[in-house]
Amino acid sequence: MYEEAARLIKNSKRTVAFTGAGISVESGIPPFRGKNGLWNKYDPATFEISYFLGNTEKSWEVMREIFYELFGKVKPNSAHTALAELEGQNLMHAVITQNVDNLHTDAGSKNVYEFHGSLKKLVCLKCSAKTDVSDVDLNILPPRCTRSDLKERPGDGERHKAVLCNGVLKPDVVFFGESIPKHAYTKSFEEADKADLFILIGTTGEVAPANMIPRMAKRSGANIIEINTTESSYTDSITDIFLKGKATEVMENLMSAI
Ligand code: APR
Repeated sequence: MYEEAARLIKNSKRTVAFTGAGISVESGIPPFRGKNGLWNKYDPATFEISYFLGNTEKSWEVMREIFYELFGKVKPNSAHTALAELEGQNLMHAVITQNVDNLHTDAGSKNVYEFHGSLKKLVCLKCSAKTDVSDVDLNILPPRCTRSDLKERPGDGERHKAVLCNGVLKPDVVFFGESIPKHAYTKSFEEADKADLFILIGTTGEVAPANMIPRMAKRSGANIIEINTTESSYTDSITDIFLKGKATEVMENLMSAI
C-alpha cells in the first residue's frame, strides 16, 4: 500500500493535504473526539459565538486553559515537516487544515489554508484590528484592544486626543456559529475541484463545512489517501488507500517509499 501511495504522490499533478486534530496529537495537542478528546472534558457549547459574547470572561478562561497554555510551546512533529518537505519537492501543492495550532506554518509549509482560522492572532470585536497573541497579556481576561486613534475632539480642531479602542479581543478562530474565513473557504473548495490527489490526515470528518472538502475532491475525480489511527466517516465511503497508524509513523514510512 505504501508503494501504491508513493506512486500516486509522485505521479499526481496536484496533491493537497487535508488535516485535522490527529496530525497534532503527537505534538502534544489533544484531539477533540475519541480517547482523551477535549469534548469529553469540555462542553463544545462554550465554543459557540453566542456563548462567548454572553460569557466572555468565562469563555476566555476555558480557551486559555485548553489552547493558550499549549499554544506557542508545542512543536511541529515529523508528519507536519514531511508535508513541508513534499511541498519543497513540488509533490504537495497546498495544505488545508482544520487545526488552529499554526504547526503547519511552523513546520515550513508555505501554502496553508487555515479553514478554522488560527490562535496566533486575536481580533478586536469593536474595530476588527488584529493583534499577535504574543503581544497580549492573557493574565487579564478578557484581553482588550489597545489601538488608539488620534481623534479630533468636537469643537477644538487644533487639539488631538488619543482615544483608546478598548474593544474585547477574540481568538481569530472560527467559533461554532461563525462563518469560515472567505479566502480559506474559496481556495479550499477550488482545490477540491482541481486536485487529483487528496491526503487526509487525522480527521473524523464530522464538522461541516470542512468535512465536505474531501467529498468534493472525490466527486471531482481525486484519489484519496487516508492516514488515521482509526476508521473515519471517509474510510468506507471515499478512501482509496487507508494507511492505518500514527501520522508520524505513516508519514515517515511514506517519505521513505517516495
Ligand atoms: N495520528 C493520526 N490520526 C490520529 C492520531 C494520530 N496520532 N490521533 C488521533 N487521530 C485521529 C482520530 O482517530 C480522529 O479521527 O484524529 C482524528 C481526530 O478527530 P477530531 O478530534 O474530531 O478532530 P477533527 O476531525 O480535526 O475535528 C474537526 O471539530 O471541534 C471541531 O473545530 C474543531 O477543527 C475541529 C473540527
